Amino acid sequence: MLDRRNFLKAASLATAETLVGSNLHALTQPQDATSRPIAANDHIQFALIGAGIRGQAITQVALQIPGAKLVAVSDTYQGRRDHSKELWGNDIFTTVDYKEILTRKDIDAVVIATPDHWHKQVAVDAMHAGKDVYCEKPMIHRYSDGPEMIAAARATNCILQIGSQRVSNVAYIKAKELLAAGAIGKLNMVTAWWDRNSALGAWDYSVPLDASPQTCDWPQFLGTAPQIPFSAEQFFQWRKWKAYGSGVAGDLFVHLFSGTHFVAGVHGPTRAMATGGLRFWKDGRNVPDVMVALYDYPEAFNLNLRVNFVNGGSESEGLIFTGDEGTMAIYGNSVTLNSTPLQKEPGYTVETFTFAMQKQFIQKYREMYPVRHPMGAPPMRSEVYAAARDYDDVYSHFYNFFHSVRTRQPVVEDAVFGYRAAGAALLSNLSYYSGKVQHWNPETMQLEA
Ligand SMILES: NC(=O)c1ccc[n+]([C@@H]2O[C@H](COP(=O)([O-])OP(=O)(O)OC[C@H]3O[C@@H](n4cnc5c(N)ncnc54)[C@H](O)[C@@H]3O)[C@@H](O)[C@H]2O)c1
Repeated sequence: MLDRRNFLKAASLATAETLVGSNLHALTQPQDATSRPIAANDHIQFALIGAGIRGQAITQVALQIPGAKLVAVSDTYQGRRDHSKELWGNDIFTTVDYKEILTRKDIDAVVIATPDHWHKQVAVDAMHAGKDVYCEKPMIHRYSDGPEMIAAARATNCILQIGSQRVSNVAYIKAKELLAAGAIGKLNMVTAWWDRNSALGAWDYSVPLDASPQTCDWPQFLGTAPQIPFSAEQFFQWRKWKAYGSGVAGDLFVHLFSGTHFVAGVHGPTRAMATGGLRFWKDGRNVPDVMVALYDYPEAFNLNLRVNFVNGGSESEGLIFTGDEGTMAIYGNSVTLNSTPLQKEPGYTVETFTFAMQKQFIQKYREMYPVRHPMGAPPMRSEVYAAARDYDDVYSHFYNFFHSVRTRQPVVEDAVFGYRAAGAALLSNLSYYSGKVQHWNPETMQLEA
């Protein structure tokens, strides 16, 4: 198995186009100095488990990476197994039971893009079968999933990378460098949001016209979830139910957590308070469509997050990092830095004093704080770092995954990182449903009283 992984590395990574203007900078992925061309017949053979919207999309990207070869697909819906053959050829082995994939000796790695409630079991089974794993976010569905996945990765020495692609995104890498270099001074607050303004944004995904117990393996979909009669809606729109998904926090906050933790180099919040409600999409779902939450980080900053599925203004996401010397905003694949040094002079409010006192006060003030820039203050530093328009961080994340599979070097997003991001997201759900502030120890990754 290790021989199969002894790959040569892909020659080049995504590049950024040169941008015009002195304060615009093109972002490029750091090059691997040891890169060399890959041999034509040198493949990592992987399988996709969960060939739905995400699974099919990321497999298309993974297949652009030199040496990556898809050989098998597992899915619980017949139509997606059939479409996998349409997309990737009749030679692709397809099965409803992912365990048939795990017994195959010709498969080095699996990509898991099932609903959240299957992530842990498939990942643990795959690692015990000797397969390296790329597992979509959120890593966990329940807190007990985290330690099991971490233990399996350690016991088997298999590679386990979690699929929060922003951790490999050039904009986030740049933001991390800027923060570490003191570009915005000391961080005191992060504000991030993810709003949507459409039915699809609120998870109303299409149900195929042939959905039935004959085409959908309902028991294999349910797994350990409560055993209820077949529901095509729950099968195809599972995010709306807690039994399979993790609400807006598990779906979207988790990206904002992984971004914040990566950029700020922190492990997670100690305290969370979340609120919100089911305000519009009252279609039988049992998770909120609006959530706002506040978190304390022991590194002395606060995080506030928001997801709004009800006319949240636009389909947008963003993260703003505020420090005592400026702000840094990440939108998509770009970072905007605005350096605004904290006002050092205390200022004065003397208008209500006598004219004589005002004159005397200002004279003394100017002796203490002489005018530094008689010609006017220098312009604020304002810079934009942007990746090429066609830059795709999923490509970077898969490049990093396959690189680890080949070299056995640590992944960019391991199970501990994934657990800390998803654990913080679940903390929001705990707070929302209990109506109480929740405590978490980000070092030991345990809930606290
Ligand atoms: N990283 C990202 O930006 C990102 C984006 C979207 C989705 N995701 C994650 O990807 C995962 C899948 O989301 P999706 O939107 O593709 O859902 P989806 O419903 O479109 O696809 C899930 C597929 O898994 C199949 N499935 C269910 N149980 C299975 C089992 N036991 N064995 C094999 N297949 C099984 C279903 O039939 C379905 O086709 C989720 O965990 C989601 O959070 C991540």
